[in-house]
Amino acid sequence: AVEATLALLKPDLLADARRVQAVEWEIRERHGLAVAGRAELMWTRAQATAFYAEHHGRPFQGRLVGYMASGPLIALALAGPRAIARWRAAMGATRPAVERANATASLRARFGLTDTRNSFHGSDSPDTARRELDFTYE
Ligand code: CMP
Repeated sequence: AVEATLALLKPDLLADARRVQAVEWEIRERHGLAVAGRAELMWTRAQATAFYAEHHGRPFQGRLVGYMASGPLIALALAGPRAIARWRAAMGATRPAVERANATASLRARFGLTDTRNSFHGSDSPDTARRELDFTYE
């Protein structure tokens, strides 16, 4: 089915404009995902906490919220057949070091820094995508 999903380019990636440009090119040209919406935003800690409500109480929550409120983000609404799974495959698994150990060429393997500063986010289901797109684009 044609789906929409939210892709976030996180603050560590935005520190390097050439990397951002390369990633956006790959999303469109290599992965064939259409960019239906694009916004540059910056979250408060409260917004980051609300977006990641499912991680409330996790040991990494404080790090995650601090990181996501530390600098600008780019939010992309991606659309296409099976866009949710395709974007998650392009990103690779959460932890960049694990990705690199498996010798995958995923975006997180190439750009991610740490388990927290992993450069990308993608919605994990159609329900989550709806909620996250609503949250981001109101
Ligand atoms: P994301 O896919 O956006 O979803 C939750 C985020 O929490 C994750 O990417 C990471 O940025 C961050 N995080 C930090 N540590 C962990 C961990 N141990 N497990 C999962 N997510 C983590």
